[in-house]
Amino acid sequence: MKPIKCLVTAGPTREYFDPVRYISNPSSGKMGWNIANAAKQKGWDVTLILGPSQLPDIDGATTVRVVSAADMLSACEKYFPHTDILIMSAAVSDVRPKVYSGQKIKKDKIDFNPQLEPTPDILKTLSLKKKSQILVGFAAETHDVMHYAEEKMKSKNLDAIVANTVGSEGSGFAADENKIDLILRSGEIVDFHKASKSRLAASLIDFISAKFFGGRRPQDRQ
Ligand code: PMT
Repeated sequence: MKPIKCLVTAGPTREYFDPVRYISNPSSGKMGWNIANAAKQKGWDVTLILGPSQLPDIDGATTVRVVSAADMLSACEKYFPHTDILIMSAAVSDVRPKVYSGQKIKKDKIDFNPQLEPTPDILKTLSLKKKSQILVGFAAETHDVMHYAEEKMKSKNLDAIVANTVGSEGSGFAADENKIDLILRSGEIVDFHKASKSRLAASLIDFISAKFFGGRRPQDRQ
């Protein structure tokens, strides 16, 4: 019997202007790393696509380290066809510089109004290739989180989305604890109380396992 195949993304992406300057965000990778670890503990076959982060590889899982949104998309596209569920917790940069300089730009040559362009939307791209895969996204917002999360779930054609309020101390980016709600396509909302990212990750994986895979243990899977 084959284990459930789970693809998790975590961490930020970096979009470089030159070899020493980039656009990014404060994601540490902890939320997604803990989700991948919890899925591994459940006996799932886990691949973690991890943006720049200090976190170690997960024993028994495949860890693929990437830098930019384009790298993350390529890595996801490689594993997505063979996965049962994608959990997209990475904080992918929405923009990148239009022009990259292979050499460090001298201070007096810096363009203070650089041209930016959107990065590829990884979830949206993968949702167009979706067959039987379950897609779970995240929505990080400072306000109206439930409203924006529902909009993102619909526009990216997701099965569920984790609504994550960010911007307050002790929760969200880089913190050890978090506060999340899971919104399902059916409209069901699960309120996970504020807790450590490792506890939340375990609860989230337990819930997802019961909801989408009938709580099957890997050895029960056909
Ligand atoms: O890493 P930590 O320090 O532990 O912090 C955890 C976290 C706050 C980063 C995490 O819990 C979280 O909320 N992750 C999602 C952050 C985010 O980028 O959300 P968003 O609302 O901008 O994006 C919506 C969804 O689209 C996300 O699933 C994102 O991965 C995805 N996306 C975004 C941009 C893009 N170009 N491609 C994408 O696939």
